Amino acid sequence: MKKTALFLISLFAITLFMASCGGGSQPAAEQTEVKATGPYADLPADIQAMMPRGEEIYKTKCTVCHQATGLGIENVFPPLAKADYLLADKVRAVAQTLNGSKLDMVVNGKTYSQEMLPQVDTKEDAVAVINYVLNNFGNKDGFVTMAEVADLEVKPRKK
Ligand code: HEC
Repeated sequence: MKKTALFLISLFAITLFMASCGGGSQPAAEQTEVKATGPYADLPADIQAMMPRGEEIYKTKCTVCHQATGLGIENVFPPLAKADYLLADKVRAVAQTLNGSKLDMVVNGKTYSQEMLPQVDTKEDAVAVINYVLNNFGNKDGFVTMAEVADLEVKPRKK
């Protein structure tokens, strides 16, 4: 009787062991795959390629006001996370990042009227950082292409 119980326990243990080596390893492999292709996998390749640059710009130039969370500071610096104003016009967002903005804007029901100076020097940088914003901070809102901003002018900087 004791021997049978022991045998059954070992059989159970062997089954568990095999399950964890065989079937169990498959989900792990899938997870690695998802991680390798990243959160931008559904975006066009040229947009994906700009993301590291966009992230670098955001982290060095935008966090001081719009915060690492993209939530901004209520009534002072508008949010970029889930911001109705930003999502309503992506080309405008690129233009504001490139040339600055000084107007009364209502973002998620709050009014912002402080000036934002130009933040980047090239359209490429403005497009990269806006694409980063559109796909981070809980945003999953597509992308803007260089072609869409072809007519955008880089305004002379105030000295
Ligand atoms: C010194 C603070 C400051 C910095 C740095 C800054 N912004 Fe802003 N940003 C503002 C302010 C203030 C406004 C509101 C401007 C207005 O009222 O016209 C604004 C508005 C915006 C808007 C439009 C509003 C919205 O919610 O969509 C976008 C887009 C934006 N900023 C993107 C950026 C990006 C991208 C960077 C970094 C490259 C950046 N900003 C850096 C202060 C800043």
